[in-house]
Parts: sequence; C-alpha cells; structure tokens
Amino acid sequence: MKLEDIKKIAVMGAGDMGHGIAEVALLAGYKVALRDVEQRFVDNGLRRIGESLARLMRKKRISEEARKGMMGKIETFVDLGEAVNEADFVIEATPEVMDVKKGVFQELDKSAPEHAVLASNTSSMSITEIASITRRPEKVVGMHFFNPAVVMKLVEVIKGDKTNEETMQLTHDLAARMNKVPVRVEKDSVGFIYNRIGAPSLILLGILVDRRIAAPEEIDARMKTLGMPMGPYELLDYVGLDIVYHSSLYVAERLSSEYAPPQWLREKIEAGDLGKKTGKGIYDWSKGRPVIDLSRAREEFDATDLIAVQVNEATKLLEEGVVKSPDDIDKAMIHGGRAAFGPFQLARGIGYDKLAARCEELAKEYGVAAFKPTETLKKGNI
Ligand code: 3HC
Repeated sequence: MKLEDIKKIAVMGAGDMGHGIAEVALLAGYKVALRDVEQRFVDNGLRRIGESLARLMRKKRISEEARKGMMGKIETFVDLGEAVNEADFVIEATPEVMDVKKGVFQELDKSAPEHAVLASNTSSMSITEIASITRRPEKVVGMHFFNPAVVMKLVEVIKGDKTNEETMQLTHDLAARMNKVPVRVEKDSVGFIYNRIGAPSLILLGILVDRRIAAPEEIDARMKTLGMPMGPYELLDYVGLDIVYHSSLYVAERLSSEYAPPQWLREKIEAGDLGKKTGKGIYDWSKGRPVIDLSRAREEFDATDLIAVQVNEATKLLEEGVVKSPDDIDKAMIHGGRAAFGPFQLARGIGYDKLAARCEELAKEYGVAAFKPTETLKKGNI
C-alpha cells in the first residue's frame, strides 16, 4: 500500500491519546473512525476534538470552514467491526495492559480489510508480542505519539521482529504527512526511545520522594526555572499516573525490578488519584493546571543528575542497536518533550567524563545498578 492509498484511519480508544491522534488525522485531511468501548467515552473524545479544533481556530491556525469540514469527516463507534471495516490504517490507543491490547488486535485482525496496517500507540510494550496474535505480523507496527498529540511533534515508528520495510516506510511517511517528526526505532525494545530514556529519571524521582529528600514542587520549581515547559512530576500528572504506573510495571518485568513503580506512586493509584484526568494526582488539577511556586525551587538539586542518568540510558540504546544514530535519539528527545537540546548535545557541553563520574556516584549513593555508567558513556566522544 502507498501513502496515497490511505483514505480512512480508524482509531481504537477515545481517551487522552486516542482523541488527540484522531484529531491529528483529521487535520491531515483523513476520514476518521473513532471507537471506544462505551458511547460516553466516544462522546467525550469527540467533544475534546471539537474543543481543541476550536482552540486552533481561535489561534487562526485553521478556518471555521475547515473546522466544520473536519467535524463532518469523523464518525464514532462502539462496535469495533463497524469502525474498521473500511479502514486502510488502524491506530490502537487502548489502556497499557498487554492482554487488553492483544484482545483488540485479535479482533482488528478479523475485522479490518486485509490490506490495512495495524499500528499500536503503546508507550513501551512489545510490538512483536502484540503482532504475534494476528495473522499479519508484517503489517503490525508501533506508532507512538506524545501527549498532547496535536502539539507534540515526535512519532516513534517501531519495528517489530516481523514488521516489513513497506509497513515501516508507510508509517514513517504517514507520520510526516501528519506534520510530525517520525523517528525509526529499529529494534523492538522496552520503552523504545523516549520512555526508556525517561525510565531511570523515574527511579530517581521516586527515590527523592520515597526517602523524603525533596518534595515534588521543590524539584518542579527548580526544573521550571531552568526552562522546562513542565516540571517532571507535573508531567507525570499530565500524562496520567495510571499510564506511568502500568508502564513502569512492564519495564520492571522486562528490564529490572529497579524500574518498578515507587511507593508514593502505588499509593496514588490505590487512592484513585491519577493526575489531571481525575482532578487530583501529585497536584490539584481541579481548577486547571497547577501553579508551581517557583520560590520553592530547591537550589541544591543538581539538574545534571537527571541528565546523567538519561544520557547513560541513551548509550544503552546505542549499545543494543535500538536506534541507528545518536542524532536520532537527540531528535526524539527534543520533539517528544519540547526540549531545547537532546541528551548527547547536552553531554557534549557538560563532558562525558563528568556525567560518567556522576552516574557512578548515584549508583553507589542510592544502590541502583541501573545508574551505573556504561562502557560507551565512560568512553564518551559520541
Ligand atoms: N489543542 C490545541 N492546541 C493546544 C492544546 C490542545 N489540546 N494543548 C496545547 N495547545 C497549544 C496551545 O494553544 C499553545 O499554542 P501556541 O504556542 O500557538 O500559543 C501551545 O500548545 C502551548 O500551550 P500553552 O502555552 O497554552 O500552555 P499549555 O499549558 O496549554 O501547554 C503543553 C501545555 C503543550 C502540554 C506544555 O506544557 C508542554 O509542552 N508540556 C510538556 C509535554 C510533554 O513533555 N509531553 C510528553 C509526555 S510523554 C508521553 O506522552 C509519552 C507517553 O507514552 C506517556
């Protein structure tokens, strides 16, 4: 199938990511079928698309006529078979639970036209495993968007063991057609690029709170004064603590138990405080985005610690052959989080020797083997 053969895109799941991906597809001119398991979920997704398009209209990015045209090009469904029976490309954005995803892919394989590509927006799970439930693993691929999908530019295009080159290229071209920055992930590996590099930061952020070394607001204020668009804890709330929790359970199971969700995160999940989506998480979101008191910035927190563990993790992706080049990693990290620089660009400025030494210290100080510097980091010169 060629890019111009794609006329209709079906999106499974109308939540935070699903509705955003459907909107991105509408903006790129496609007909869209949006499906969720209950009518109220699809209604809510449709309402959010309407609101977001209205926001773009107010900013004069699109005309009133274009907005109306897009709202006329989307249909909503509860029945999966009806949603995908004319789809050329399907993007799944259901909860981060492997069994749920496998169930959906089994149904998609039965109901979607034979030529259709089946993509998963999973944030960390194995594309190979998801594909194994279908009779078309060569047409199953990862297509990982970032939240909010309409704003964030990165799309990770992930190759499962059996994904063929035609599917990879098509998905790459589709992401570019959607005005995104696609980055190829050549090897199906837990967390792919962005979330894998973020995983050791979550260990560190977990330790700081669990051991009462710092309060989230003190770290967020510090990081915001250094230019991050959101503090790291605020971002967890924004993404959804449930998503972070499920994703870290999965990473822990596949990589090492050190990546398991920290105690405070478990407590939030038990209390049902999932972040922005429930109005309460680490922060109170009931009146909109939390206001972080910048005067609480913890000056002694060295932001280089977060950079050090991230650069170190990034070198593991190079060692494992997950990406072709360090530039791809920088590109992904810049466009996935609206950062000014990628990890290797930062490392060249700070110095690999300094970062390797800090990783060694952090590994000892907190007893975390995942922080130990890799041979690649120690060698530097990347
Ligand atoms: N629809 C349309 N436009 C939107 C929008 C939406 N839903 N949300 C934000 N925008 C636009 C705003 O209109 C604004 O546009 P402008 O630059 O033309 O004025 C721009 O985005 C920025 O928004 P604001 O300045 O108004 O500030 P916000 O608080 O609305 O911005 C944010 C929110 C864009 C989310 C910003 O805080 C940010 O970039 N945060 C970091 C997000 C991030 O790192 N995401 C990655 C998460 S990891 C992930 O998703 C992986 C997954 O697997 C878990």
